[in-house]
Amino acid sequence: MKPTRSFASDNNAGIHPKVLEAIAAANQGHVVGYGDDPYTGAAVDKFKQHFGSDIDVFIAFNGTAANCLGLKALTESYHAVICAEGAHIYTDECGAPEKFTGCKLIPIATTDGKLTMESVSHAYHGIGDQHHVQPRVISITQATEMGTVYKPKEIRDLARFAHQRSMFLHMDGARIANAAVSLGLTLREATRDLGVDVLSFGGTKNGAMGAEAVIFFHKEFSRDFLYVRKQGMQLASKMRFICAQFDALFTDDLWRKNAEHSNEMAAMLEKEIRKVPNIKIVCPVEANGVFAEIPRQAIAKLQKRYFFYVWSEEQSLVRWMCSFDTTEEDVKEFASFVRRTVTE
Ligand SMILES: Cc1ncc(COP(=O)(O)O)c(C=O)c1O
Repeated sequence: MKPTRSFASDNNAGIHPKVLEAIAAANQGHVVGYGDDPYTGAAVDKFKQHFGSDIDVFIAFNGTAANCLGLKALTESYHAVICAEGAHIYTDECGAPEKFTGCKLIPIATTDGKLTMESVSHAYHGIGDQHHVQPRVISITQATEMGTVYKPKEIRDLARFAHQRSMFLHMDGARIANAAVSLGLTLREATRDLGVDVLSFGGTKNGAMGAEAVIFFHKEFSRDFLYVRKQGMQLASKMRFICAQFDALFTDDLWRKNAEHSNEMAAMLEKEIRKVPNIKIVCPVEANGVFAEIPRQAIAKLQKRYFFYVWSEEQSLVRWMCSFDTTEEDVKEFASFVRRTVTE
């Protein structure tokens, strides 16, 4: 039977065959646990080749943890984290960032998932007032939860805004690979060089099985992170199997190929969907997701055959994501099913 592929999430895809091979290849004999092994050493070296030798990298199991612990390293509980109202840390982490950091999250309304200096400046107040939380971090998601991608200048501006006010810029890079290829930048150019201080680096949506990392571009914040990670229950005993995955993604630019492919499939899906009447694509398609307002009555009919998430019931807004393994045939079949369903 043909395997089914939906457009629900890049997390619904499997593992890239080369990543799976790397896991199998690492499954030889015994190595020391908890990161003192050659596989972890090799992956960390590759992170350093991409981001610079003076970084600190810590492996984590999932993106929620990478975000929570990265934010914890930057904050005290009386601080605040400014983020978009649709940010994963605000809407999809069950309050874990608040629990782990003790900080208040200040959500900012956006139309396209992006913070701006102007919007952030409204949340920057109460400085030095003992009754107010103190803004400490601006957290952005790249690519955003709306499938858009911050332009380099937009990130530089936010970094400057933060740094001029003794704040820091955190990036949720669950889809940083998609964003970097969309911008035609290297991973470093898309993050560190723009002023990002701490990066949650996502491997899972890029073809890994569960491989994320927290990357510090300034060691002053990572000083105690070994303990923060362990308390945060993210110290992997068999770390070699996570690191073998990163090694595979960094070999022969697999990370780039996977991201390029999923972005291309989203662009193709956008093109096909734009031909369907009564559907409005609400945000520029700049990474691997398409956000569309569709006729309300079509949702349930479409979902009978293809599972996907409704992003806003009120707006009848749905999200369709492409993955490293989405094929042109998948896109065409899905788009023609959407057309038939919407126009019947
Ligand atoms: C923007 C964003 N950040 C972080 C994550 C990481 O989530 P998880 O904890 O499920 O790995 C996701 C996953 O959906 C995401 O979309």
